Amino acid sequence: MMKEKIAACRAQIDEALSKIASGEQLKEFHARFLGKAGAITALMRDLGQIPKEERPAAGQLINEFKNSVTERFKALEAEVAKREMQAKYDSESVDVSMPAVMHAPGALHPTSLVKARLCEVFAGMGFRVWEGSEIEDDYHNFTALNTPKDHPARDKQDTFYIGEDIVLRTHTSPGQIHCMETMKPPFKVVMPGRVFRCDDDATHTPMFHQIEGLVIDRHVSLCDLQGLLDTLAKAMFTPDTKTRFRPSYFPFTEPSVEVDVSCCECGGSGCRLCKGTGWIEILGGGVVNRRVIANCGLDPDEWTGLAFGAGLDRIAMLKYGVNNIHILYDGDQSILRQFRK
Ligand code: PHE
Repeated sequence: MMKEKIAACRAQIDEALSKIASGEQLKEFHARFLGKAGAITALMRDLGQIPKEERPAAGQLINEFKNSVTERFKALEAEVAKREMQAKYDSESVDVSMPAVMHAPGALHPTSLVKARLCEVFAGMGFRVWEGSEIEDDYHNFTALNTPKDHPARDKQDTFYIGEDIVLRTHTSPGQIHCMETMKPPFKVVMPGRVFRCDDDATHTPMFHQIEGLVIDRHVSLCDLQGLLDTLAKAMFTPDTKTRFRPSYFPFTEPSVEVDVSCCECGGSGCRLCKGTGWIEILGGGVVNRRVIANCGLDPDEWTGLAFGAGLDRIAMLKYGVNNIHILYDGDQSILRQFRK
């Protein structure tokens, strides 16, 4: 009786084992035959119904049967685990001969490139780099710079006022005042930074960048400024770039100059960029006004100064042939990407 039952069960087990291919199916098999509610456990239970004298032999048969099934189960379990691991390895393997996914690396903005280059050139001449704040009081942005109350630059049309006496700096020149107030002369500083004016057309944006230069020392003159700016122009454009000074006016420098460089497009023969003149204006500067030096608590009979302020975006536009300043700030990747090294 028991022999037949076992034989029937073995047939089922043979069939079931031959179909197992996954860990999931192994679990099912275990529950169906070896678990508490499984077929082999049921055979054990049936022992109670057979005559007492036949029980030991039948029990032994079942035990042997159970052991052999358990052994086959374990062997299969190991094999399935191995197979599943191999499948995982295969699916995760990397084909090193495949072309890589290309990431688009970032690029420095043209204005940042110009700023970095100028800071580098001036650092090489012993200047320190100082950055002021974009929010200034009226005193540092205008009054201390000898800009009178009725000066047109103070107009609400031109300047962003964010309070009665508080403005977004309209130039980096307030940095001159901060430096003279806090640094011990003699010193040389360049101050790059963002500046703001109510202005918006093809060559102006409400926010743009300048770099301010300030030298405070004994007996400096316009000649020193010319040498300094000549070095700047040659470093920024080409070694054969020429500079020229034109008389100008700023309340905080006396004398004041406007500085032109020979046109980087035509080299000076005249073209559309330089409007046929061969020259392009790049910055303003001059000898620091005695009044400004005195405003900062320095003795204007002992200390003299040179200052200049240049538009970084403007230089970037000239250098890279960009004809509309908005192109620099539209975030167009196809343009900005070109500055990747
Ligand atoms: N601050 C002036 C401007 O924004 C430039 C300048 C700076 C002129 C320093 C003279 C000296 O136009």
